[in-house]
Amino acid sequence: MSAAPIIELRGISTRFGTQFIHRDIDMRVEAGQVLGLVGGSGSGKTTLLRQMLGLLRPTAGSIRLFGLDPGEADLLIRQTLRRRLGVLFQHGALFSALSVFDNIAFPLRELRCLDEDWIRRLVDLKLDMVELTAEHGRLMPAELSGGMVKRVALARALALEPELLLLDEPTAGLDPERSQNFVNLVGVLQQALDLTVVMVTHDLHTLTSLATHIAVLADQRLVACGPRQEVMAVDHPFIRGFFAAKAGKLL
Ligand SMILES: Nc1ncnc2c1ncn2[C@@H]1O[C@H](COP(=O)(O)OP(=O)(O)OP(=O)(O)O)[C@@H](O)[C@H]1O
Ligand SMILES: [Mg+2]
Repeated sequence: MSAAPIIELRGISTRFGTQFIHRDIDMRVEAGQVLGLVGGSGSGKTTLLRQMLGLLRPTAGSIRLFGLDPGEADLLIRQTLRRRLGVLFQHGALFSALSVFDNIAFPLRELRCLDEDWIRRLVDLKLDMVELTAEHGRLMPAELSGGMVKRVALARALALEPELLLLDEPTAGLDPERSQNFVNLVGVLQQALDLTVVMVTHDLHTLTSLATHIAVLADQRLVACGPRQEVMAVDHPFIRGFFAAKAGKLL
């Protein structure tokens, strides 16, 4: 019998009012996979991540992360899941009134079981992981470049040493060099920390550099999900268009 998946979606349908976003989506993500989730704007990628985080309930179907329901009201289950997954939201989403240090310390302080000495050590370690220094910790988010904001958000996502990382458009808005640096950093950390990653991206370079697997949302359905090379070869209008148009841009 194969090991239990890290994420399992079964029969997910999502409707906002009369608008169907997802219809009957089944998906499995196994330990160690880096799954790139692609689809047109408004196809429901962020919505699917929000459902995995338990921030939104699907209209129908079930979601299991580590075998647990993220929509569960039970506080202990919610806390357990929170400690096992890290998230980097689509728009960076640092707390603007908190310093870099306090942003990264935030999830550690929420645990209420670490003293400030430990918190300082752990924050310094996370800063180092994303190639920033203790000096950067003193800066406010408004004083950071776009690439640094992403690094700090990544450090915060890794604060609790998660097994699963959810990234929503991690390289959007970065110039090619910063985007490349960030992709390299995520790749190194994914290997070193043995992370399972679900990453929404429309950037072909980010996708082909990092993703071992790809899932494609189109026409409210999951039209393909599997190893990267296999999905890239699927004969579906959205997939052909996506890879052809993006490849064209690279030339
Ligand atoms: N809470 C909500 N209430 C009503 N409609 C919503 C809600 N959240 C999302 N939607 C709608 O669901 C659809 C999917 O949105 P979502 O943000 O998941 O798309 P996306 O694939 O992440 O798009 P993008 O690539 O632009 O980020 C959109 O039409 C959006 O307007
Ligand atoms: Mg989105």
